[in-house]
Amino acid sequence: MEELLIDKTHDEARQGEAFAPESHSLEKFSKHFYIESYGCAMNFADSEVVASILQSEGYGATTDATLADLILINTCSIREKAEQTVRNRLSNFKGMKKQRPGLVIGVLGCMAERLKAAFLEEEKLVDIVVGPDAYRSLPSLIEEASTGQKAVNVLLSRDETYADISPIRLNSNGVNAFVSIMRGCNNMCSFCVVPFTRGRERSRNAHSIVQECEALFNDGYREVTLLGQNVDSYHWIDEHTGETVTFARLMEMVALISPLLRVRFSTSHPKDITDEVLFIMKQYENICNYIHLPVQSGNTRVLQMMNRTYSREWYIAKVDRIREILPDCGLSTDMIAGFCTETEEEHKDSLSLMEYCRYDLAYLYFYSERPGTLAARRFEDDVPLDVKKRRLQELVDLHRIHSLESMQKDVGKTFRVLIEGYSKKSEDDLYGRNDQNKVIVFPKENYKKGDYVMVEVHDCTAGTLIGKVIPPTP
Ligand code: SAM
Ligand code: SF4
Ligand code: F3S
Repeated sequence: MEELLIDKTHDEARQGEAFAPESHSLEKFSKHFYIESYGCAMNFADSEVVASILQSEGYGATTDATLADLILINTCSIREKAEQTVRNRLSNFKGMKKQRPGLVIGVLGCMAERLKAAFLEEEKLVDIVVGPDAYRSLPSLIEEASTGQKAVNVLLSRDETYADISPIRLNSNGVNAFVSIMRGCNNMCSFCVVPFTRGRERSRNAHSIVQECEALFNDGYREVTLLGQNVDSYHWIDEHTGETVTFARLMEMVALISPLLRVRFSTSHPKDITDEVLFIMKQYENICNYIHLPVQSGNTRVLQMMNRTYSREWYIAKVDRIREILPDCGLSTDMIAGFCTETEEEHKDSLSLMEYCRYDLAYLYFYSERPGTLAARRFEDDVPLDVKKRRLQELVDLHRIHSLESMQKDVGKTFRVLIEGYSKKSEDDLYGRNDQNKVIVFPKENYKKGDYVMVEVHDCTAGTLIGKVIPPTP
């Protein structure tokens, strides 16, 4: 097993599936595109920007690749396995291209940025290669490709945020939506390819973010997740008023749209999350009490090699502070097992940090060397694969105990739940999430998607709380 993943923002189950909005019926458009997305929530959000750009060019989305004039894969480079998945998927499209020579195939996203024109040499069936900052050039690239030429644009930008583009929601339940608030990353974590594939960090115009969230609320959406690789370093200056908008202020602006609009965010870098953010979370009931705070390792020497800029003790102090200000805050993390030179003792520090933090959720990976990163250039990837996998399994096993414990602690409690849809297992049940991001399943009765209900929990599994709605007292 490479990793353990559960959750909307990181949901592997959604990887590679293609989505299309109901409004894009086949009859309505003369040309169609099919888009598959991989990687983080930001890539999924980008696919919705791409869908909007293509819709302006007369393309409708389809979930059936055999009906498409244009097939796009929005790719991820974070680990070797992610890139392998994309290569396998591309080889599946080979047959289709042979049968329909006019079909245009494009690769978007982080792998396109990492490999650039070399992609066209490696994967001969690809016609277009477009990096994350170049989606506005898609229409001209498609035109170029339709004449039989290969088309590439992988220019990274210092200011592109797609602020003026209204994303077309591709996989919408009409209740929750992702909203990108920034792009790129200025941190140089030594293991990470993102600064190379996404470029410099830049913050999106705060007013355009608020407008997008307001429009979503008016369309019936009840939850927005503000997205960035490092949301706490969001920083935007209003040219007209000179006002500086920090992440805390931005959250406040979004929270003020309506108390019925829930606000979530991801991801927080431990070095940047401030007390100001924690106090804003405390002040507004509709800002959810849940923080994804990736630690990566529990050992200070390894953290230094990772260039995370904090120590084990510093991270622990941050967790203590979160729990002091927000005692019932849900907490999740990312960890990497078997980073370069990690010893058995240092791995045990990751386990003991986990014991201390008792995360509600953890996304656990073994180290995968990425070409061009600081770690690839400076350090030897010297932990054998079987050792990495064994260490990962130990993290997974320990986390299972903690997540079950965390679920069991909630049995008997009552939570306010935003209903997101039918439970996967039965149309007689609905599901939603509580403030702390835990999934709760309960009998449908007369409730519906988008409603807020109070649910009393009477049972749980390792990943789900099970309960019953408590009707409001008349
Ligand atoms: N920006 C976030 C942060 O600061 O933690 C997350 C970035 S990345 C999209 C998500 C996670 O992938 C990271 O937190 C890290 O645990 C994992 N990851 C990144 N590079 C990796 C690598 N080379 N090998 C294994 N896991 C990696
Ligand atoms: Fe990668 Fe670090 Fe930036 Fe996260 S903060 S995207 S791990 S470089
Ligand atoms: Fe992957 Fe790029 Fe996101 S590398 S995790 S899709 S920023």
